[in-house]
Amino acid sequence: MSLILAAILGYLFGSVPFGLVITRALGLGDLRKIGSGNIGATNVLRTGHKPAALATLILDVGKGAIALLLARALLGEPAALAAGLAAILGHLFPVWLGFIGGKGVATCLGLLLALNFWAGLIACAVWAAVAAAFRISSLAGMSATASSLVSLPLLGRTDALIIAVPITALVIWKHRTNIARLRNGTEPRIGQGAKTGS
Ligand code: G3P
Repeated sequence: MSLILAAILGYLFGSVPFGLVITRALGLGDLRKIGSGNIGATNVLRTGHKPAALATLILDVGKGAIALLLARALLGEPAALAAGLAAILGHLFPVWLGFIGGKGVATCLGLLLALNFWAGLIACAVWAAVAAAFRISSLAGMSATASSLVSLPLLGRTDALIIAVPITALVIWKHRTNIARLRNGTEPRIGQGAKTGS
């Protein structure tokens, strides 16, 4: 029962599309028709509104962290893991947007920070290092997410692989159009525009 409650709580938190809400509130247009069409902070940055991108990043990280911490406090550790996975599912497949959501990197960073602070910091460091080297957000995001598969076991949270493995797989799958662009050399650098469509 607690797992179901945690999953509902996590999904509801994760499904709030902050990027879309913020850009709409600021009159920046429909984010799904701008740049990559994604609802995340990277695409909000393509509107040229840096504070909106930062707010989206903080809120998308925050919703993942809060969902997990709340479930942990109210229902225990197994429920925290269920809430974490559900938060990612909510972000990727929000009912409010016809199940077409974001790519999950920021929310995954939030989960990792709440799950094990060091694993979260490692993921942030991997994101920053890859972004500094290549200036490509999708590559940095996929690398940061995948770092959890190594950092969590090293930090004594092998149990959390039960959610980290499917989350990493889903995040990479959600980046399939980015991967296609990376392969043909057309993926935009951070701060550049993007081709419309995922
Ligand atoms: O965190 C999202 C990022 O990995 C890719 O975003 O807009 O470049 O597809 P975008």
